[in-house]
Amino acid sequence: MFETIEKEVVKNKQFLSDVLKGLSAETKHISSKYFYDKKGDEIFQQIMHMDEYYLTNAELDIFKSNKCEIAKIFSPDKEAFNLIEFGAGDGLKTKILLKELLNHEIPFDYVPVDISQNALDQLNSSLKEEMPNLSFQGIQGDYFEVLSRLKESNGKRNVVLFLGSNIGNFTNEEALAFTSDIGTKLNAGDLLLIGVDLKKDPRKILLAYNDPKGITAEFNYNLLRRINRELGGNFNIDTFEHHPTYDPVTGECKSALLSNIEQEVVIDDETFHFAQWEAIHTEISRKYSVKQLHKLARKSGFSIKADLFDTNQYFVDSIWEISP
Ligand SMILES: C[S@@+](CC[C@H](N)C(=O)[O-])C[C@H]1O[C@@H](n2cnc3c(N)ncnc32)[C@H](O)[C@@H]1O
Repeated sequence: MFETIEKEVVKNKQFLSDVLKGLSAETKHISSKYFYDKKGDEIFQQIMHMDEYYLTNAELDIFKSNKCEIAKIFSPDKEAFNLIEFGAGDGLKTKILLKELLNHEIPFDYVPVDISQNALDQLNSSLKEEMPNLSFQGIQGDYFEVLSRLKESNGKRNVVLFLGSNIGNFTNEEALAFTSDIGTKLNAGDLLLIGVDLKKDPRKILLAYNDPKGITAEFNYNLLRRINRELGGNFNIDTFEHHPTYDPVTGECKSALLSNIEQEVVIDDETFHFAQWEAIHTEISRKYSVKQLHKLARKSGFSIKADLFDTNQYFVDSIWEISP
């Protein structure tokens, strides 16, 4: 009980210090990892079910059509392994693969990692109900913290999943640092399956982050609401506007919240001045070409074992192995 309260206090301290630092920067910014509190998780579920958010259906299509092939690549001789998933969320797509592995009686332990305790709790109870024979152990934390523990595995091979184009939330440098770091923590024979949204019609991409019903806008506003709720901020949400943009040259889809008036906002006794139309950068969702993705794989020490595409070629799940 005390341990849980202590963990919450540490988490809130980190949240507060990141928000104060981000809003003091020349270009105001807050990390997208703070989108995911209980309310944020709920809104993200709605986003996943929106027609405009094609990413979910595309990756579902890949998992449904290729579950058998993926299971074979992960464990050709039914050898035991750890299946570690970074940013597992509700596990919608992963569950297709988990069921396939169980059906083939392949021995594995599932380790979902997520920053949101709420997402993990929900995944936990749904897995217990839907797959009572599954061996799993969720870990709450930031990918980067948990990454350092990868080497302490139980002697079994590690297979890492990073779905939903979460890699797109990193800048080029961060993406390379992340995949390289995973590479150094894996051993020969270990694998990384990475789900990536591909460059396509810019209008289709932008609509996924700017739906007419305003669900993606609400997802962004919840970040300010969360600061008000958890850090005692006084953001007036009505004075901020959701502003996503997509640049086909860089492949970066960026979300920002714009202050539509000049104003001051107070958080934890610190005052932040906003000029009219000044932005808080909240999220980057970078789109890749297959060529860029393969370059990332090679630069971070992997070779490509398979590329699995959806019917529309919107998305790729690329399976990488450590280069010998
Ligand atoms: C865009 S959702 C994708 C969920 C799932 N992978 C999918 O494809 O449907 C991102 C998930 O990653 C988690 N997440 C975001 N940033 C994280 C971080 N830095 N460390 C750990 N989890 C993170 C969120 O809580 C959320 O559940």
